[in-house]
Amino acid sequence: MSVRDLAVSFRSDTRTVHAVDHVSYEVAPGEVLAVVGESGCGKSVTSMAVMGLLPPSASVTGSIRLAGRELVGAPEKELQRHRGKDMAMIFQEPMTSLNPVLTIGRQIGEVVRRHQGLSKKDARARAVELLDLVGIPAPRQRVDEYPHQLSGGMRQRVMIAVAVACDPAVLIADEPTTALDVTVQAGILEVLRSLRERLGTAIVLITHDLGVVADAADRVMVMYAGRAVEEAPVDELFARPRHPYTHGLLGAVLRPGGEGKRRLPEIPGLVPGLDVQPDACTFAPRCPRADDTCTAARPGFTPAGPDTGTGPVHRAACWHPHPTATTAEEAPA
Ligand SMILES: Nc1ncnc2c1ncn2[C@@H]1O[C@H](COP(=O)(O)OP(=O)(O)OP(=O)(O)O)[C@@H](O)[C@H]1O
Ligand code: SF4
Ligand SMILES: [Mg+2]
Repeated sequence: MSVRDLAVSFRSDTRTVHAVDHVSYEVAPGEVLAVVGESGCGKSVTSMAVMGLLPPSASVTGSIRLAGRELVGAPEKELQRHRGKDMAMIFQEPMTSLNPVLTIGRQIGEVVRRHQGLSKKDARARAVELLDLVGIPAPRQRVDEYPHQLSGGMRQRVMIAVAVACDPAVLIADEPTTALDVTVQAGILEVLRSLRERLGTAIVLITHDLGVVADAADRVMVMYAGRAVEEAPVDELFARPRHPYTHGLLGAVLRPGGEGKRRLPEIPGLVPGLDVQPDACTFAPRCPRADDTCTAARPGFTPAGPDTGTGPVHRAACWHPHPTATTAEEAPA
């Protein structure tokens, strides 16, 4: 899947919110791209745009191509054909995304009946298979239960089962492990990992949790106030963050052992409002490296790492990125 120059704004009578401001990314089969950034930076809106699920108040420009087909401006009927089959999403709110009055087997079965034309009996069998795949014990019994009979972690697994029912080429997982305890979280990540290994699913993993990123992602895109500010392979990003915002994010992570009584550094200031799209760096008011250039022009999203010639490139949108040759002592992670 390839997203180019995606911009999403919401217009109301009084103002326009530019929720996504010309974001581009790609995700290849079998790859996990993590998208990180503060609350409100546009992670979910970007994903809802890809799924074609934004409300009519949203205006979307740019290009979203899935296996060569353009999705921006595609008729709803065509998007419906892709949704569930070619691309699927695990929504941010697992507790409210399942229908409380239908058994989980019926909700999973509905997807395969619709897209693959399976009979009622075959759809039920497939639901059992999928519950097993996502690690739900005793799936033959569970298939006839209602969402309220399951724990939060199990409901999240059911959401994944619904999303992967038709082996979608692309899976967007929006905060799939938030609000779950660490052992359940590890189980969910294991499910995603096995999906990409067994089915070659391309996964976009949205998360606040840098531990999850380190554990599960191949590549990371960092967003700030609707813009992509840095993108790199995960090890490269953790070892050599170039953008001051990424530096701040990684610096604000607790590490076992080394902290002593030192106060954890924080990024001063607040995320800016999204009703203006300044021709400047939106991080400037909070950035220790800001100067006049930063407030006079928007930095391009340009190469910021060693050119390996083959591997994925490191890019950052910054006029004065941190130097690449950070020593182990200076590196924030
Ligand atoms: N339907 C809508 N109408 C108007 N503004 C919206 C709408 N949906 C989202 N927004 C705004 O778009 C911006 C981006 O929201 P989004 O939900 O993508 O954030 P996020 O990065 O997913 O945050 P979180 O980490 O809290 O989930 C926010 O300022 C939000 O208020
Ligand atoms: S462009 Fe300037 S203000 Fe923006 S992150 Fe880079 S140094 Fe900071
Ligand atoms: Mg969100």
